[in-house]
Amino acid sequence: MYENPEASLTPEEFIPRLETKEFGRAYHYLPEVTSTNALARSMADKGGTAGTLVVAETQTGGRGRLGRNWVSPPGGIWLSLVLRPPLAPSRAPLQTLLAAVALREALLKGAGLACSLKWPNDVLCGRKKVAGILTEMKSAGENLEYLVAGVGVNANFPGNLLPKPLREKAGTLLDLLGRPVDRPGLLADFLEIWEGYYTRALQRGYDQVLEAWRQGSGTLGKKIRIHTTRGPVTGRALDIHAEGGLIVETGPGILETFLAGEVTILEK
Ligand code: BTN
Repeated sequence: MYENPEASLTPEEFIPRLETKEFGRAYHYLPEVTSTNALARSMADKGGTAGTLVVAETQTGGRGRLGRNWVSPPGGIWLSLVLRPPLAPSRAPLQTLLAAVALREALLKGAGLACSLKWPNDVLCGRKKVAGILTEMKSAGENLEYLVAGVGVNANFPGNLLPKPLREKAGTLLDLLGRPVDRPGLLADFLEIWEGYYTRALQRGYDQVLEAWRQGSGTLGKKIRIHTTRGPVTGRALDIHAEGGLIVETGPGILETFLAGEVTILEK
């Protein structure tokens, strides 16, 4: 079993590093949980404030997008943040892009890794996915009650702890760097950068998020296949839409915007 030599995410080691106003100030750390998203949702249902953060050392039922499992061994960063943004539910995908942009910046700052973003919510280093985001929300009609942004970072564990079929496409920071990252430092940086983007988006709109997403994107300009409910569609990813959808040229002069789906990048 891989022994993790670095600092842990216990409140004692993490909170002194945190420099945010709200994000993470209500901090719940658990050695093990079924899913931090599930726990954060139940906290939000009971009135948990914006900025409530749930972090677990390991998840036994981590959830990924599209109903998939998310393998979450010790050494990763498995977190869920409760947010209550004044946003129409249809615009909630913008919050996922916002978190992705912040995570990319934090990985550059804290680990020196220049990662790229794959629409809608994957963080890739080289061709391997090292992090993913699952945003879940509760809304009533046009009112967004809360949003739980769940982020999983394959940090300090070796990739051979991932199931074999995933290993070709998924990697870990430990394997990429050859050393463990400072998890409390990375998490604190991430939350600070995330809070900065969030606060500015609430004050001035999401243009800055969209621009940062374009800058960090490894999807735009590429030939892609997008797996949608109506089947696979091939085309060239052209831009990100103001609501967070992906604009794809699916035929000469034919532009389609996709709001959900799984993207495969077909060229380097
Ligand atoms: C994806 O499929 O790419 C999204 C993965 C999101 C995983 C994280 S780990 C922390 C949080 N809790 C969960 O159950 N899922 C998210």
